Amino acid sequence: MAGAEMIGKEEIKEVMDVLETGILMRYGFDKERKGIYKVREFEHEFARYCGASYALGVTSGSAALKVALTALDVGPGDEVLVPAFTFLATYEAVLEVGAIPVMVDIDDTLNLDPQEIEKKKTPSTKAVIPVHMCGSAANIDQIVALARKNNLLVLEDNAQGCGASFKGKKLGSFGDMGIFSFDYVKTVTTGEGGMVITDKLDLYHRAEWYHDHGHDHNPQVSRALEGRTILGFNYRMNELQGALGLAQLRKLDYIIAEQQKNKKVIKDALTQIKGVGFRQLPDPQGDSATFLAFNLPEENAAQKFQNLLAAEGVDTVCYKRNLWHYVPNWEHFLARSTANSKKYPFTSPANKRQVEYTRESIPHAENILGRTLVLGISVKMSPEKLDQITKGIKRAAQNM
Ligand SMILES: Cc1ncc(COP(=O)(O)O)c(C=O)c1O
Repeated sequence: MAGAEMIGKEEIKEVMDVLETGILMRYGFDKERKGIYKVREFEHEFARYCGASYALGVTSGSAALKVALTALDVGPGDEVLVPAFTFLATYEAVLEVGAIPVMVDIDDTLNLDPQEIEKKKTPSTKAVIPVHMCGSAANIDQIVALARKNNLLVLEDNAQGCGASFKGKKLGSFGDMGIFSFDYVKTVTTGEGGMVITDKLDLYHRAEWYHDHGHDHNPQVSRALEGRTILGFNYRMNELQGALGLAQLRKLDYIIAEQQKNKKVIKDALTQIKGVGFRQLPDPQGDSATFLAFNLPEENAAQKFQNLLAAEGVDTVCYKRNLWHYVPNWEHFLARSTANSKKYPFTSPANKRQVEYTRESIPHAENILGRTLVLGISVKMSPEKLDQITKGIKRAAQNM
């Protein structure tokens, strides 16, 4: 994704501001830092950009998920609805807080199917995590409405959709909390990093305290004398990450506009091909356009087309066969393997039955992901590159 493509003099300037003070930590050292608070500034600009009241920088998107789930009071005894198509971290975070991830099917948006909420919930279900995969929105309005009706919390995993929106409102700002990833392959990158956003002050405080060993961050006293009421851990973002994030965030609208242009050129070429359909976008204007997902009528045809495209130098991913983004392919997760000898319990607290992660329980994901090919879009796609891709698509289609 785009962030890494865009590293330039703006990032260097922001990072140099920090290096010139030598203060790499976001808290404390108030005299020595000479007014430089990059993480704080990044959080303020990020919250404003997303239309959220509060933002908290953390060490990664994975950490952001864990911090948010903890703030939302999700833990042992709780079940959480998670789509079958997501990066492994979404499931790991649920396990990390001691809760059980319950796999649900996707719809034609390739994201969590709202209809699954009432089908898969049990009396132990506490939250739902819609994931805006590949930078495009889930049917988030329906998901939030159904979650509210059923008294469930909503945590949006928007690790892949930074800057995308639905009907003018930024993704990540619909649920009780939203998270973002700034790892090296994301639309905004800080090398590693993440953000949690929310409109609720109590959730923000719980996240902020938890991510820094319970520190209450009272500006009136020195860090050593700060109060604490809860235990936490260390998921603090550092000043170098904050500096990078500031420079990158200011480029985000440009990034999305360029990607939308490039995506359109490729989509127009694919539209000419008989039998090709496209992923449903609940709001095409709000698409971050980091990926283009298109489909063929059958899995065999999709595989053949993928091979023909590869021969033309046009690489695509079929997520049904991907090792990291589709639950049925995670043999280590299914075996409940951990680094120590303790296995995660996959037993539903509600009915004491083993939670299953079978392909049969997610028929739509099995069908649509098998027929779908995903092509990465970047900011700097030259006219020559776009020409190579569109001509490659045309030639591949002729050989089908
Ligand atoms: C959907 C999703 N959630 C969470 C994460 C975790 O983010 P990070 O790599 O910053 O830990 C990722 C990263 O790829 C992701 O794609």
